[in-house]
Amino acid sequence: MILKSISLNNFRNFEKKHFNINPNLTAIFGNNARGKTNLLEGIYFILKGEGFRESREEQLIIFNEKNGYVIAKLEDKINKDISNLRIDLTIGDFGLSKSFFLEKTKKGRQSYLKNLITVVLFSPEQIEIIDRTMSIRREYFDKFLSSIDSEYKKRLTNYNQALRKRNKILETGFNNLNLDAELDYWNKLLIDNGSYLILKRREYITYLNSNTTIDSKEFSIKYIENKISQERFSESLQKELLIKRTLIGPHRDEYNIFLIDKSAAKKDIHMYGSRSEQRLGLFWLKINELKYLESFFKKKPLLLLDDIFSELDHNNQKLIFNLIGNYQTVITSTEKELTKLINLSNNSSYDTIDL
Ligand SMILES: Nc1ncnc2c1ncn2[C@@H]1O[C@H](COP(=O)(O)OP(=O)(O)OP(=O)(O)O)[C@@H](O)[C@H]1O
Ligand SMILES: [Mg+2]
Repeated sequence: MILKSISLNNFRNFEKKHFNINPNLTAIFGNNARGKTNLLEGIYFILKGEGFRESREEQLIIFNEKNGYVIAKLEDKINKDISNLRIDLTIGDFGLSKSFFLEKTKKGRQSYLKNLITVVLFSPEQIEIIDRTMSIRREYFDKFLSSIDSEYKKRLTNYNQALRKRNKILETGFNNLNLDAELDYWNKLLIDNGSYLILKRREYITYLNSNTTIDSKEFSIKYIENKISQERFSESLQKELLIKRTLIGPHRDEYNIFLIDKSAAKKDIHMYGSRSEQRLGLFWLKINELKYLESFFKKKPLLLLDDIFSELDHNNQKLIFNLIGNYQTVITSTEKELTKLINLSNNSSYDTIDL
């Protein structure tokens, strides 16, 4: 299935705009603040039911309006069947509400999203997955695993709730006569849910380490589990009571990403990677998201690349065009020059949109 077209109505800075999307590659060009990222967000929104910025959802509607909608057409590549999608946005007394429609029939969010194509977004801000703290890396993996496994999502919520409760009990400290029994209850919940999280994380890391190369570059990832067990809880209790925080369990797992050079030496790109090496490391994660989603859902995901070319040299830009060849892709850039490179590296058709 591919995205054929999208119309944005009172969405972000677009009052009313229709865009056709190429089955292979669509390149959106425009100066700063023309709406390139907003258009990508519109595509993401119609396929995921949410925006991708950390802003309040009301901000998806154009300034000073209370209603907006996005319409899109998907096409089945084989039998050419068209599906019509629509999401209405309305600001009411209780904030923003969204209504989902498939073929003009109103649907619940889950049933609307169920049969759509999945999306992988790659934007410059996501470099934080590589260059910032471990908790951001953990969040990235949690979000991805939650998006493909509802059990993971549920257990993660349970785990985090239990963790907060357990920390509260640690705060009551040495004065709590019931300490052992109370902790025991939450320990069991943490072990039960945490073990599932660790198992699924381990599986995905194994997948990543079986797909290590992009072009001539090789990456690997090391997953360091913070093992969770009753014994470890007992061992660390005294220390935990002092600092009033739970020190054991997958909320403290670590992920380290390495670039492997020709002599097989490994370099941790969080600590030592250059900016472009970090970007390629992130792209390695993203390409694997694509491949994993494709094998999981048996459908090719749509790839959205927001302004990722500006910091890459010619060779790395070429490398990215070669890798995205198989997937329907929408890119944005301020550099019209990029079309030269597209003409060189891309054998299939493409369209450009000038904003
Ligand atoms: N709800 C909204 N209503 C109206 N305008 C908005 C809304 N939300 C964002 N904008 C504006 O839309 C404009 C385009 O934003 P966008 O992020 O898409 O730009 P861009 O083309 O990606 O620019 P850049 O090259 O700087 O990344 C900005 O001026 C932004 O302030
Ligand atoms: Mg932008």
